[in-house]
Amino acid sequence: MVAPFSQSFTIEGRNFFNAGEASTEIKSILKELGIDAAVIRRTAIATYEAEMNVVMYASRATLTLNIVPEMIRIVVDDDGPGIPDIDLAMQEGYSTATPEMREMGFGAGMGLANIKKNSDQFTITSNVGIGTRLDIVIFIS
Ligand SMILES: Nc1ncnc2c1ncn2[C@@H]1O[C@H](COP(=O)(O)OP(=O)(O)OP(=O)(O)O)[C@@H](O)[C@H]1O
Ligand SMILES: [Mg+2]
Repeated sequence: MVAPFSQSFTIEGRNFFNAGEASTEIKSILKELGIDAAVIRRTAIATYEAEMNVVMYASRATLTLNIVPEMIRIVVDDDGPGIPDIDLAMQEGYSTATPEMREMGFGAGMGLANIKKNSDQFTITSNVGIGTRLDIVIFIS
């Protein structure tokens, strides 16, 4: 059985140099805790996509990782422009990535859809001009 665990991470918007650090650290925490490889993989994908969206579109965020024996919960709460149309943003292929971001390999418009696919529960809420919050739950079975 997995022991309860909780940790918060700060993600800096527009800092491509440190991009992916939180997801990488979370992946090693999950490995350390002996969590099932498939669960780690799904969590790593969801966390990485959420982290990169903060780097690309927001000013900053707090990512909170909570692990209890039944589930992994990740909440990413950002300060940023928010998302005016969540249904549109969720559509595969929709992206507002800049040419520079596309040159770096981002902007396929797949991130949010991939987070949803890899989560057991996924909630996204956003306030334009304030920020966006993702609540991701992945069951450990
Ligand atoms: N945290 C966020 N704050 C503001 N806008 C966001 C945020 N996350 C996503 N978006 C908006 O939703 C769109 C779709 O996001 P999604 O992650 O699916 O694709 P992408 O980031 O554009 O490309 P990819 O993730 O495939 O590199 C983004 O282009 C952006 O307009
Ligand atoms: Mg993305």
